[in-house]
Amino acid sequence: MKKILSGAQPTGVMHIGNYIGALKQWVQWQDDHECLFMVVDLHALTLVQDPHELRENIMRTAALYLALGIDPKKSIIFVQSDVKEHAELCWVLNTIARMSELKLMHQFKDKSQSHPENINVGLFDYPVLMASDILLYDVDLVPVGEDQKQHVELTRELARRFNTQYGKTFKMPEMFIPKTGGRIMGLDDPLKKMSKSASSELNYISLTDTPDVIKKKIQRAVTDTQGGVKTGKDKPALTNLIEIYHLFSNDSVEDIEARYEGKGYKEFKENLTEVLIQFLQPFQKKFSQYLTDRQFLQTVLKQGAKDARVQAEATMKKVKDAVGFGY
Ligand code: AMP
Ligand code: TRP
Repeated sequence: MKKILSGAQPTGVMHIGNYIGALKQWVQWQDDHECLFMVVDLHALTLVQDPHELRENIMRTAALYLALGIDPKKSIIFVQSDVKEHAELCWVLNTIARMSELKLMHQFKDKSQSHPENINVGLFDYPVLMASDILLYDVDLVPVGEDQKQHVELTRELARRFNTQYGKTFKMPEMFIPKTGGRIMGLDDPLKKMSKSASSELNYISLTDTPDVIKKKIQRAVTDTQGGVKTGKDKPALTNLIEIYHLFSNDSVEDIEARYEGKGYKEFKENLTEVLIQFLQPFQKKFSQYLTDRQFLQTVLKQGAKDARVQAEATMKKVKDAVGFGY
C-alpha cells in the first residue's frame, strides 16, 4: 500500500480552492492508501500569529479535516509541532540546502513582497521544513496544489543530495497534482489564484461562509468583458466560475455551457450560488459539531501524534546514524 502525506496551515480560513486542490483528494485516497494528514502549525509561525487565534485555528483545522470526511480510523491526523522530529530533521537538512536554491522559491518571493516588514529566516527556510515533513515518513506520494510544486521538487533534490552524501536514507517521494481544479482563481481577480491571504474577502468562498455571504460573493464576482457563459482563453473569469460549478455539481463543462447558451450571467450566478450552498451546508453542520466536542478532537490529535512519532523517531534514528551522531 502506498503512503501519502499532506498538510495545511491553521490559518483560519479554508476556501473552496483548498478543498478542490487538496482536501477532496485526501478524503478519496484514505481508502486505499496509508495516509498522514497534518496541521502545519510550525509553518504558520512564519507569519505573525496571535497565540489565542493560532490555538483556536489549529482546532478549527482539525475539525474541518474530520467534517470533510478524513477518518481517524483510516488515517493519522496530527499537529506538526506535536512531533519534535520535524524541527530536528529540518536542522540537518538546512546544512545541505543552499541559500541560492531557496532564494528561487516563488512562495518566498511572493510572501517577502506581501510582508516586507517580516521577512524572517523561517519564511526563507519554509521549504526545508516542508521537506522534513515529507522525508520523515518514507512517503510515496504528496498530493498538493500547483503552488507547492517547487517545494516538492526541492524535497526530492534534498533527498537525493542527502542519500548521495550520507548513503541511502530517504525514500524519493512523488508529487500528485490534480488535473482539474489544481488552481482555482480569485473571484475578484481571475488572473491570480484564490488565496486566503488576499486583501479582499471577495476573493474567495470560505468553507464556513453562510448562504448570504456566498450569495453576495458570487454576485460580486467579476465577469469577462465578452458576454456569455462560456469558457475560453480570453474569458478567464467565466472559465473559473464554470470550473467551480463543474467541480461542485459534477455537471460537465459542456453541459453547463449548453444550459446557459444565450443567457446572461444572472441566472448562472444564482444557480452557482445554490450549488455551493448545497455542498457547504451539510459540511458546516458537521464542522460545528466537531468543533464543540473538544475532548474528542484532543483524543484524535493525541493518538495521531503518538502514531506519527513512532515513524518519525525511526527515520530520525537512521538520519543520526548516517551523519555520525550518537556514541
Ligand atoms: P494553504 O493552506 O493555503 O497553504 O493551502 C493548502 C492546500 O490547498 C495546498 O495543497 C495548496 O496547494 C492548495 N491550494 C491553495 N490555494 C489553492 C487554489 N487557489 N486552488 C487550488 N488549490 C489551492
Ligand atoms: N506548504 C504547504 C502549503 O502551504 C503545507 C505543507 C507543509 C505540506 N508541509 C507539507 C503539504 C508537507 C504537503 C506535505 O500548502
